[in-house]
Amino acid sequence: MSFDSQTVATKAAGVSDRRKIQRVTPRLLEWYSIHARDLPWRHTRDPYAIWISEIMLQQTQVTTVIPYWERWMKILPNVVKLARAQPKKILKLWEGLGYYSRARNLQKAALKIVEKHGGNFPSDPETLNALPGIGRYTAGAICSIAFDLPEPILDGNVTRMLARLFAIEDEVSSAAANRNLWALAQRFVNATDKCGSLNQALMEIGATICKPRQPSCGECPLKRSCAAKKLNSIEAFPNKPKPRASKECHWRVLVLNHSGRYLIRQRPTGGINEGLWEFPTEESISQQSPREWQTELVGCEVGHPRRFTKLSHTITDKRIRIEVWLAKTNGHKPVGKWVKWSQLRKLPLAGAHLKILALMNEEIADKARVC
Ligand code: ADE
Repeated sequence: MSFDSQTVATKAAGVSDRRKIQRVTPRLLEWYSIHARDLPWRHTRDPYAIWISEIMLQQTQVTTVIPYWERWMKILPNVVKLARAQPKKILKLWEGLGYYSRARNLQKAALKIVEKHGGNFPSDPETLNALPGIGRYTAGAICSIAFDLPEPILDGNVTRMLARLFAIEDEVSSAAANRNLWALAQRFVNATDKCGSLNQALMEIGATICKPRQPSCGECPLKRSCAAKKLNSIEAFPNKPKPRASKECHWRVLVLNHSGRYLIRQRPTGGINEGLWEFPTEESISQQSPREWQTELVGCEVGHPRRFTKLSHTITDKRIRIEVWLAKTNGHKPVGKWVKWSQLRKLPLAGAHLKILALMNEEIADKARVC
């Protein structure tokens, strides 16, 4: 199947699409009532709880999110608690999920809900959409799942599923395809009064059956209606540009010890991982000896440098190869915070540094076993 997206105009969600949607909606709902995964946020209609789950689920797998969501709901069970929480506590609860601006936006939005709406969670999409970190998708998910309102949702999973069901040939990121996809998603919620279940059924099929590779079409309740299947070209949809190759870069991290304490620094505002803590890190590698680059990095004399390990870490489209070094200092105290090893776990650390901490903990445990 080849696309000529410049010449193929996207059909607007027309009469035949509407009929198809009315035909498949009962099948979708029935399938969902039997096959929905038992996820903890599916046991509640509390818009706050649903909001937290939806933000966590952006860019993160369901299995990873479950323990984070459960812990968050225990410690910050409502919007007032979130608005009043220490930012440090919020970052700690988010630690490991990445994209920390999502956690910061949660608190900014919670403060607005408390200040402007008296702590009552808004239920209309425009008000929700005006809150920090809430876009059209999240507003639609909250309105439909918590309040059963006919608001559409469109995420990566739903986009893929709809692009296949209707064999949408335009590049899915184009304005025309985007308009068409939202119009189709709207038609789905208009075809039922179980809008929350319907939207979750779309997401669920996208996540568990209509997968990017080797979709399980045999198990799909919509297989008889799927236009891409009729064309025998499931994997040609959605039409997406080729992903850019990820960039590779090299970092060196120094775990510096001074009388049983370790040097850490806080990431500056405005950049990636803002406000998180990390071991001193050299992000552009120089051709210096270990002692030289380490001295320059921390601004004091270091001794006994030793390469501890190497690891890989990915941030968005960056693949980072990291060398981890251990060293000691006994002289002047360089800029940063000196903390005991046991305190490190209590601070929100950037993702790569969490991995380093885990590797070092393993080594410490191994040493203890040998002794
Ligand atoms: N992904 C995004 N929202 C979801 C939800 N409510 N349930 C499962 N997966 C999701």
